[in-house]
Amino acid sequence: MKISIFGLGYVGAVSLACLARDGHDVIGVDIDSAKLDLIRAGNTPVVEEGMVALMAQVAVSGRVSVTSDAARAVADSDLSLVCVGTPSASNGSQDQGAVLRLAEQMGAALAIKSVPHVVVFRSTLVPGTVEGRLRDIIERASGKRDGEHFHLCFQPEFLREGSSIRDYDKPPFTVVGANHPLPVARLRELFGHLPCKFIETSVRSAEMMKYACNDFHALKITFANETARLCEALGVDAFEVMDLVCQDTQLNISRAYLRPGFAFGGSCLPKDLRATSYLAKSHDVDIPMLSSIMASNRLHIERAIAKVLDSGCRKVGLIGLSFKTGTDDLRESPLVVLAEQLLGKGIQLAIYDPDVQLSRLLGANRRFIETQLPHIGDLLKPDLAEIIDGADMLVVGVSSPAIFDALATRTRPGQRVLDLVDLPNRAALRATVEGLCW
Ligand SMILES: NC(=O)c1ccc[n+]([C@@H]2O[C@H](COP(=O)([O-])OP(=O)(O)OC[C@H]3O[C@@H](n4cnc5c(N)ncnc54)[C@H](O)[C@@H]3O)[C@@H](O)[C@H]2O)c1
Repeated sequence: MKISIFGLGYVGAVSLACLARDGHDVIGVDIDSAKLDLIRAGNTPVVEEGMVALMAQVAVSGRVSVTSDAARAVADSDLSLVCVGTPSASNGSQDQGAVLRLAEQMGAALAIKSVPHVVVFRSTLVPGTVEGRLRDIIERASGKRDGEHFHLCFQPEFLREGSSIRDYDKPPFTVVGANHPLPVARLRELFGHLPCKFIETSVRSAEMMKYACNDFHALKITFANETARLCEALGVDAFEVMDLVCQDTQLNISRAYLRPGFAFGGSCLPKDLRATSYLAKSHDVDIPMLSSIMASNRLHIERAIAKVLDSGCRKVGLIGLSFKTGTDDLRESPLVVLAEQLLGKGIQLAIYDPDVQLSRLLGANRRFIETQLPHIGDLLKPDLAEIIDGADMLVVGVSSPAIFDALATRTRPGQRVLDLVDLPNRAALRATVEGLCW
């Protein structure tokens, strides 16, 4: 394929070298003439393992050229990879100056190109940038339409400096956000041979997932480092602890706990986080990330409270009271907090929880409810149908096939449902369903 690469920093230069190595004709474009001169001379513009040898190898192949002329590069290629920098502005926002200027250049270049062209944004871009800003600029500057005369898409880059050639050849996955099959097919030709999944998604999800990945990486590093600071203060071997943590691939290094939902609670996580924070404080160790988890969790509960209050509904049916589906444990349940707050605001509440009901009948949790939550225990009803029929709004905090069936058969038009559990088939409900943050 004939490929032009805009921006010859770490991402662009490594892509240029690897694509030329793989047999493609590559035109590098940069506004920095020093980088163009280095590549012309067969040198690397970035310090990266393996790049000196690879650039020397591809320079003699005749498949690499460089230019500062964007229009020529677009005219002479089928597809452009945009890898310009998107650094932080002083207020923390993304400085999009380079990519916005590039969009103007790209539009002008496409104005004079007669055959369709694929433009792949590989720079990290805040969600909405491609469809909300860059597309408009390119369409205006070119006088042409995305999806007809040219095709925009977004493919996040996952290489890491220091191992970028190896990462290029073995990425965690290839993710392409596109609105049209043509750019996806072209990228499959380029990257489909790599030993990883090739995933198609929406442009915005592809933009956002790049941030989610980097945020997650930063969170993991900080988790290990905060744990290590506390370990040191306690005289515990941090490497041993983190090695043990990583050996649990069922709950720790897995998909577990990574699905959006309601706040956590229960008899373990809150108390153990609190004890961790206290332990750190008593040893003069700062662990700001771990210490702020409870506050973030509380915000999630407050979001649900606000949604109920903002709805204007006064008769609310709460489905679920224990801290998660399948248990009767009410200790530190976020649904109890939700119920208490709603009661405090004068909401008429009725509650159904099959597990709590059963445990109450058996006498297991009866004392806890009677002594700790008598005001809530009185609101527990045994009949889900009655709760559904009597409520203007239902808050669904636990899920089971039986609960879903009851919602599907008994909810009515005009009734509202606040879904805290990501109900499986919302469209089957006659009520208006709103998710907590989905
Ligand atoms: N560096 C990484 O490890 C990495 C990994 C994944 C994603 N990313 C993302 O990829 C993007 C590029 O990162 P980088 O580290 O390679 O950037 P970089 O700053 O090293 O290089 C950017 C290059 O773009 C050039 N440029 C600016 N405007 C241009 C224009 N109009 N035309 C042509 N060239 C232009 C600059 O001169 C510079 O050489 C960023 O959005 C970054 O967030 C970087």
